[in-house]
Amino acid sequence: MKKIFIIHGVNLNLLGIREKNIYGNLSLEEINSKIEEEAKKLNILVNIKQSNIEGEIVNFIHEAYYNNYNGIIINPGAYTHTSIAIMDALSSINLKVIEVHLSNIYAREDFRKISYISKVSDGIITGFSYNSYILALNAMNNLLS
Ligand code: DQA
Repeated sequence: MKKIFIIHGVNLNLLGIREKNIYGNLSLEEINSKIEEEAKKLNILVNIKQSNIEGEIVNFIHEAYYNNYNGIIINPGAYTHTSIAIMDALSSINLKVIEVHLSNIYAREDFRKISYISKVSDGIITGFSYNSYILALNAMNNLLS
């Protein structure tokens, strides 16, 4: 069975509360249920984690490597635009990586158009609200087949 590690980054625990016009009404818990439902359909094992702490996100990436996950789906939140540490962690391990965003980062402020994570990702899915994660799961399933 394919094993996928899903990482939600900074402020994503506030989904359903923060800027609903941009990020939608669903809570992170509700989004995670949808991810788990889709994973079941695809016969994929998922481990889902969230952290507001950059180093903890780096530790999740190491954990994915040491526990033989096949791929990482990551929405780093604002760390997307700042974190060389997360970029380096992802390029240190030989796992497939898909970067995900709920909003379309290319249709927003200029500073969001720069992603350190894209440089080390196999692909990016941005702008489809919670469905970005569902699309990413299917894309990862195809990548690993
Ligand atoms: C986000 C986009 C980022 O620019 C922002 O800082 C977030 C969420 C998204 O999912 O659309 O926190 O990653």
